[in-house]
Amino acid sequence: MIVRDASPVDRAAVRRVHEEAFGRSGEATLAEALEPVVSLVAIDGDRGVVGHVLLAEASLDGVHPILTLGPLAVRPAAQGEGAGSGLVQVAVERARATAYPAIVLLGEPAFYGRLGFSSAEPMGIACPFDDVPADAWQALQLPAWAPDVRGTVVYPAPWAEV
Ligand SMILES: CC(C)(COP(=O)(O)OP(=O)(O)OC[C@H]1O[C@@H](n2cnc3c(N)ncnc32)[C@H](O)[C@@H]1OP(=O)(O)O)[C@@H](O)C(=O)NCCC(=O)NCCS
Repeated sequence: MIVRDASPVDRAAVRRVHEEAFGRSGEATLAEALEPVVSLVAIDGDRGVVGHVLLAEASLDGVHPILTLGPLAVRPAAQGEGAGSGLVQVAVERARATAYPAIVLLGEPAFYGRLGFSSAEPMGIACPFDDVPADAWQALQLPAWAPDVRGTVVYPAPWAEV
């Protein structure tokens, strides 16, 4: 399994990964609509593209730029083989080399906790949505983190469509 930058030729395969993993088209459309800071695919030999993850720019109250992780998906037939973790690990490595202070996401703490994410609220990063479980709102601080990085995340517009 290798992880590399997504390219325009991966477009159809990336769409299929999200549609199969989520069982609907919303995340596939979101992945196409977002302007990526980082977009990675996991490739597994003859199976080709089995996973995709995207980091996009959001902001804290329109002031501090920050990264969001998602959507993340692995084809059902390839789940449990490390592709999802590998994609997140490489995305985090890439993000660590940027000037962004943190990555935020909504997801399963059991999965993302192992990859260095923890509850975002105690860091002063508030979730803009009312209807999500508190423990799903997670963040990972990057080398550019600073104490004044606080506020409510404003997601890029395409997220409103999901
Ligand atoms: C979540 C997802 C990306 C994980 O990808 P993956 O390649 O299967 O993950 P990995 O093989 O790296 O890791 C698998 C481990 O994570 C755990 N895991 C996977 N999804 C999980 C979840 N939703 N909640 C808790 N743990 C989860 C597995 O139980 C497994 O644990 P184990 O190693 O102890 O057996 C994949 O299952 C998927 O695409 N799911 C559907 C779409 C989705 O939910 N995307 C994430 C939105 S936040």
